[in-house]
Parts: sequence; structure tokens; C-alpha cells
Amino acid sequence: MKKIQVAPSILSADFSKMGEEVRSLQESGADVVHCDVMDGVFVNNITFGIKMVEDLRKITTLPLDCHLMIVHPEKYVERFAKAGADIITVHWEACQDNLKEVLELIKSTGVKCGAVINPDTPVEKIEEVIPLCDMVLVMSVFPGFGGQKFIPEALDKLREVKAIVEKTGKEIDIEIDGGVTAENVGLVKEAGANVIVAGSAVFKAPDRAAMIAKLKA
Ligand code: DX5
Ligand code: ZN
Repeated sequence: MKKIQVAPSILSADFSKMGEEVRSLQESGADVVHCDVMDGVFVNNITFGIKMVEDLRKITTLPLDCHLMIVHPEKYVERFAKAGADIITVHWEACQDNLKEVLELIKSTGVKCGAVINPDTPVEKIEEVIPLCDMVLVMSVFPGFGGQKFIPEALDKLREVKAIVEKTGKEIDIEIDGGVTAENVGLVKEAGANVIVAGSAVFKAPDRAAMIAKLKA
């Protein structure tokens, strides 16, 4: 049984006090910090980049999970790695035929790598590269914004990914991202996810530690 990890997304944090926000996540029992990097081109929103990762690296010991929602991620993976990312995930939609090369490039920098698929991309697009991945990320919303509604078809994709991962015989994490709440977290775990991203669920909770514990339980 893979360890269940909760990865709050700092997209829902107060950016004017990011240091305090991330410290509070660590104190509240988060396992990973999910960093949503958006470029305003791949998605219709702009967040933050390399400098944020570099500065967060100095104030937390939690792994930094960098979800790159950017075009040409291959241009930036080395700098994210150097800034202190522990894992970098890249979208099939951004890399397409180059996905394998981009994953290998991430690996060559010494950090973990992962492939991501949007809700309208079938699992078969990444099937071949799954054995190269440390993690596979299934999007359960169209990327760009926090607080969207979970797309239930993601559950079938988690099951499909799980079956492929099991066939590899490797320890590959399965991450789910978008619209995860205390109400649907049981379903996503049952379907095979072990890394649970939660933005609004954690940041809107009156008690973050209690919410993280609930998501983990
Ligand atoms: C969506 C981001 C997610 C998002 C999750 O583009 O990749 O990580 O912030 O937020 P919630 O949990 O609020 O859907
Ligand atoms: Zn994300």
C-alpha cells in the first residue's frame, strides 16, 4: 500500500504572506507543497515561477511538487530543479511527441519527474512513458483556476493509470488534482490516487490541520 500524501496547492494561499502560509501547511501536517506554475499561455492564468520555488525552498523542508502549466516546459525545467523543486510534472498537452525527452531531461537534473493529463486527454497518450515517471498526475478539472468542480470521469482514468502502474512493478505515485474535497477524497483513493492535491479545501477550512488529517485518513 502506497503512503497517502496530502499536497495542498498554494494557488489558494494568500500570496502576500506566502512564507507564513507554507509554514502553516507544514505545521498542519501537509506532506508536500503543490506549486502551480502558470504562464498565461498554456492556461488562462498567471501565477509564479522559479523565484517562488527558490524562496520557498529556504523556509520549508517539505517536498516542492512543481506542476508546470506552461508552454515549452523544457526551457525551464533545469532552472526549477536548481531552484529546489523535488518533483517536476509536465503536461502531455504541452509536450506531446517530446514528452519522453522532457521527462528524461527532468530526470537528468536529479529531480523526480511526472506526466500530467488534462480531463480530455486519454490515458493511452502517456501509457508508454508511465514506466519512466516517478508520478502520474490525473487532472480532475481543466487547469487554470482553483475552486472548480471535480470531474468524476477522472476516477476511471485513475483506475486505468493504476492498472498500468501495477504492470510496471515500480513504485510510481498517482496524483489527483482539482476539486478534491473531504466528501470525494474516499472515491479518489479507492480509484488509485495516493497523492492528493487540495487547494480550496485546505485553504478555506477553518482548521487546516483537521482538514489535512481528514484528507489523509
Ligand atoms: C488547477 C491547479 C490545481 C488547483 C487545485 O489548475 O493545477 O492544483 O489549484 O485547487 P482546488 O483543490 O481548489 O481545485
Ligand atoms: Zn496543480
